[in-house]
Amino acid sequence: MSKPFKTLDDIGDIHGRRVLVREDLNVPLKDGIVTDDTRFRATVETVTELADKGAIVLVLAHFGRPKGVPSAALSLSQLAAPYAAVLGRPVRYIDWEGADDAVATLQPGEVAVLENTRFFGGEEKNDPAVVARFAAFGDLYVNDAFSAAHRAHASTEGLARALPAYAGRAMEAELVALEKALGAPEHPVAAVVGGAKVSTKLDVLKHLVGKVDHLIIGGGMANTFLAARGVDVGKSLCEHDLTGTAEEILDAADAAGCTVHLPYDVVVAKEFRADPPTRTVNVHEVAADEMILDVGPAATEALGDVLKNCRTLVWNGPMGAFETSPFDAATVALAKTAAALTTDGSLVSVAGGGDTVAALNHAGVAGDFTFVSTAGGAFLEWMEGRDLPGVAALTR
Ligand code: 3PG
Repeated sequence: MSKPFKTLDDIGDIHGRRVLVREDLNVPLKDGIVTDDTRFRATVETVTELADKGAIVLVLAHFGRPKGVPSAALSLSQLAAPYAAVLGRPVRYIDWEGADDAVATLQPGEVAVLENTRFFGGEEKNDPAVVARFAAFGDLYVNDAFSAAHRAHASTEGLARALPAYAGRAMEAELVALEKALGAPEHPVAAVVGGAKVSTKLDVLKHLVGKVDHLIIGGGMANTFLAARGVDVGKSLCEHDLTGTAEEILDAADAAGCTVHLPYDVVVAKEFRADPPTRTVNVHEVAADEMILDVGPAATEALGDVLKNCRTLVWNGPMGAFETSPFDAATVALAKTAAALTTDGSLVSVAGGGDTVAALNHAGVAGDFTFVSTAGGAFLEWMEGRDLPGVAALTR
């Protein structure tokens, strides 16, 4: 398949050439320990391939949001050792001060991590002076950080125009999977959209109703839709001021021929804590002092049947309060159904964004999905149908 961007297959002989590789090393760090190294692992293929071909690999990355103010707490120096452990090869850390001299000493096949790109205030402004400063270190640019591609920053967008630019392997895999899921998917297509609040996903929902055949709404946000349909949701999390918007989305779905699936049975409790007394009831039977915390078993089974008739699934957000037992049941059950259908070869399943990876890991099925994106904000913006500046800049 020809791709609208250059990949490492197009890069040619890079022995001894300096390749600036934008990665997303924005990992969670607690007391100096990386608590989830998924993002490190996502970089291994690209960095290894380039280093094995004899390139001088200069990894560019941000860490946190320092807004142009350098600090030890957000220095990439502390990530070099854990990153080297994941890469399985030495990683040199290079501070911005003296960076030119340090880069000049690197040998073919060596990997170095440059200091936090956001220590320059101009990084987030895509300042041409910062683009030029970064560009001076490299002969070529590889963007492998889909999860930062929604930012039009010097290291994610500007560099792609300053140097010959290529998508890294992780970026390539992400773009291929996303194209299969919503760009040119096999129909019927289902989208699962869950999570706490409708307000954070209005643009996602508005875009999806015009793209998918089935829109499955779960999580706290389903309550706002239920309220829009006249259901009394008791003391459930519900954005009552958005019921009008929810109605508009339901009307738009109707007009586009998209079937919206809302829960019709739900699991409720009077308190939100682990293992409280619960009831499974029809949505019309929620008492005034109860809250909806998960989709019920009957609706979950019906949703599984919907997936059985679909060829493509895109998933963002949990179906219930999955981090608190027993309100993970619907998320786990539906995720398992999707995983089994994927393994059987009848479904292409792509998931991503925020809590989604945690929810699929909790269900033990992340590895069975066709593709699970490590991106948060970038995945959501893609689901909104927006052009991502970092991706657009790579497109031929
Ligand atoms: C992320 O953590 O989602 C990415 O690294 C982007 O970080 P940002 O939201 O600070 O731009």
